[in-house]
Amino acid sequence: MTQPVWLSERVQWIGAFDPGMRSFDIILKTPNGTTYNAYAVRGSEGVAVIDTVKAECAEQFFAHLEAVARYDEIKVIILNHLEPDHTGALPELMRRAPQAKLYISQSAQLMLKALLNRKDLDFTAVITGDTVSLGDRTLRFLHTPYLHWPDTQCTYLEEEFILFSGDVFGCHFCDKRLYNDKVGDFRFAFEYYYTHIMRPFREHVINALALIEPLTINIIAPTHGPILRDQPTRYIERYRELSAQRLQNEINAEEKTLIVFYISAYGSTTQMAEMIREGAEQVPGVRVSLYDMEGGDTDLFVDLVEDADGILVGSPTINGDAVKPAWDLLSSFAKINVRGKLAGAFGSYGWSGEAVRMLEDRLRGLKMRLPLEGVRIKLIPSLEELEQCRQYGLEAAEHLMGVNAPRVLEMADLLAARKQTTEELSVVTI
Ligand code: FEO
Repeated sequence: MTQPVWLSERVQWIGAFDPGMRSFDIILKTPNGTTYNAYAVRGSEGVAVIDTVKAECAEQFFAHLEAVARYDEIKVIILNHLEPDHTGALPELMRRAPQAKLYISQSAQLMLKALLNRKDLDFTAVITGDTVSLGDRTLRFLHTPYLHWPDTQCTYLEEEFILFSGDVFGCHFCDKRLYNDKVGDFRFAFEYYYTHIMRPFREHVINALALIEPLTINIIAPTHGPILRDQPTRYIERYRELSAQRLQNEINAEEKTLIVFYISAYGSTTQMAEMIREGAEQVPGVRVSLYDMEGGDTDLFVDLVEDADGILVGSPTINGDAVKPAWDLLSSFAKINVRGKLAGAFGSYGWSGEAVRMLEDRLRGLKMRLPLEGVRIKLIPSLEELEQCRQYGLEAAEHLMGVNAPRVLEMADLLAARKQTTEELSVVTI
C-alpha cells in the first residue's frame, strides 16, 4: 500500500492507482493505466474530502484517508463530478463519516439520487461563488458544466491557490511519482484525454476557462493523472489553444464555410459533388471546400468539420448502404459538437439508392440541421440532373447565409391541401 502524498501541510492526495486499466468507458485507450485522485484538506474546524475513487479501488482510498484524518474529523465531502470512477467509494465514506455534509453542484442533484438510490439524502447544492469554510481554510465552487458531464464543477482552495479541477486538466496516466515534474512524458495522454473527453464540449471549455483564468493558481489537482504543480498555467493555456477556432486566421469573420465530402465508385457522385460546389460558390460569403473521402483521413477531416458551418456528404449506394468511409466520417462527429450545423447528403445509385436517406437519418440523429431533401440520382447524371445538383448547392449555401428563410405555411394553403386530399381519397373510395 502506498502512502498519501502531501501537496502542502494541509492538503493530501488520498486517491488510488489503477495501473492495469487498458480501456476506460469502453472507448478510451489507457496504455498507462490511470489514477483516481481524491484529496483531503484540513482546516482549523475540520477536514474536507474532495472526490472519492472507483469502488474497486476503495481499499487504497480509505487507507490513505485514515493515514491523514479520523472519520469523525470529516466535516465536508465535496463531489466535483458524479461519474462512478469518483463516487464509487462514496456510500462507504458516508457510512463511516455520517456527520459529514455533502456538497454537489446544482446540476448534480437528480444524478446523485439516481446514483445512490436513496430518498433520505441530505446534501447542499452549490453554484459558482458559493463557499464552504473549514475555519482557516475556504473552499470556493466554480460550476463548469459539461466538462464533461452536466454536473461537473471545480473547487478552489482560496488560501493555498489550489484548484481541484475534477476531470478538467486530467488524463489517464498512472505514474506513482504523481507530480508533473516527476512523472514520465504524459503529453500524449493529456492531449488524448482532451480530444476524447473535453473536445465535444468546446464551448463549455471556453466558458470554464473564463472562470479559471482570473484565479491565482499554484497547483492544479485533477481527478486523473499527474498533479500539475510545475507551471500549472501552461495547462490552462493549452486548453485555451485546443479550444480555439482553428480557422480564425484563414477566413473572414463574416464568411461561412461549407465542406462537400464525397466518394465515388464510377465518377457519378464526383460529378454531383462538383456541381454542388459550383452552385454553392454562387452565393456571396460562402467559402466552399471539396474533399474526396477516398484520399483523406477521418482524423484530419474531423478537424475541418469542427470549424465548418455546413457539411454535405455524398456517397453512392452499394449493397443497399452508404460506403464505409462515409460512415467512418459520420461516426467521428461524436468527437466534436456538430449540433445545429447545416448538413445534407447526396449520391448516385444503381437500383435501390438507400445511402442518401440513411446518411440523412444519421445527420439528423446528430442534431444537425437539414433544411433540404438530399439529391439522389440514378446511375449517370443527365444535364438536367446536374443542374438539380447545382441548385441544391446554391440553396444549401443560401440557407447557410440565412437567405432562405424557413418556409411559413399559411392556413389557407393547408386547408386547400386538405380539401384536395379529401377529394383524391373519395375518388379512390368510389
Ligand atoms: Fe473521471 Fe468523468 O470521470
